[in-house]
Amino acid sequence: MATIFSGIKPTGIVTLGNYIGAMKHFVNLQDEHDAFYCIVDLHSITVEIDRVELMNNTRSLAALYIASGLDPKKSTIFVQSEVKAHAQLGWMMTCIAGMGELERMTQYKDKSKGQERIGAGLFVYPTLMAADILLYDAGLVPVGDDQKQHIELTRDLAQRFNSRYYETFIMPEPMIAETGARIMSLTNPEKKMSKSDANPKGFISMLDAPDVIRKKIKSAVTDSEGIVKFDRENKPGVSNLLEIYSLLAGIPIPELEEKYAGSNYGVFKADVAETIIAELEPIQQRYHELLNSKELDEILDQGRDKAELVANKKLAKVEKAMGLQRKRSK
Ligand code: TYM
Repeated sequence: MATIFSGIKPTGIVTLGNYIGAMKHFVNLQDEHDAFYCIVDLHSITVEIDRVELMNNTRSLAALYIASGLDPKKSTIFVQSEVKAHAQLGWMMTCIAGMGELERMTQYKDKSKGQERIGAGLFVYPTLMAADILLYDAGLVPVGDDQKQHIELTRDLAQRFNSRYYETFIMPEPMIAETGARIMSLTNPEKKMSKSDANPKGFISMLDAPDVIRKKIKSAVTDSEGIVKFDRENKPGVSNLLEIYSLLAGIPIPELEEKYAGSNYGVFKADVAETIIAELEPIQQRYHELLNSKELDEILDQGRDKAELVANKKLAKVEKAMGLQRKRSK
């Protein structure tokens, strides 16, 4: 059974997009796989972030992982910067990568657009992501649609390494769900829902209060047709809400279309909001119990120790393959 690795950046409070596109799959996969779920804080410093905010976000994301159903008995949950091998292998992967292939990364192009000063870390970021995955011999990487290109690069780097030195890494496969892999912004349904959106109305944070969720869904951009129908091209707003509703309630989209035939958007949106609230409320409750608990520290300490054992072993193999070893006198 393939090992799973995935991670989320603690850049802001995670959104419903992260939850549907990634976290829900993390939970489903942990029963049958050896799974490593990381809070990838080294990725958060590729853009300027306040240190206290980063520390709070890291803890908050760890609590949300567990509150969403990740079970530390089944999954290894840990903070990336606590396992030093990530940064070390990240450097080695940077040395394997070419400027051209990094320049082709669409996330880099999007994030650097219009920026006055682009951090070098933002540019080499995919090599750190490759290291994250390759350290654990992960065969499957559950992610949303926007990470596919980074996993393809990871495969290219692994292959290059294996042929330049010797067989060291296995090839990871992205695991991207057919639906829910790209939840869209509520204010601009042509754009992905993102925790770094300057307008908070564009996303639902996993910690939003019920009334905030109701307001955000009520003001979500739809169209003037007044028909609840899935048509991503012509009705991106309604289709996005249908997708969210269907995935959270476990009701197929055609059934929802039938249910709301003849209803107006107001009735439909109210039910979408209640479905989200019903999903998030128990998670939020458990989150608040966990956030300041010793239990959370213990889980992260154990996760770090377990991840470190695996990662250090792999790192030693990579160092040996690359000749990063001192020759000793006979
Ligand atoms: P990040 O933190 O931007 O997002 C975390 C996960 O959430 C998914 N996601 C979405 N899915 C559906 N709809 C959306 N609107 C949406 N927004 C985000 C992302 O695809 C991702 O799966 N580089 C990664 C973090 C990372 C990583 C890794 C992932 C670092 N190392 C190793 C996998 C394996 C990132 O920035 O994700």
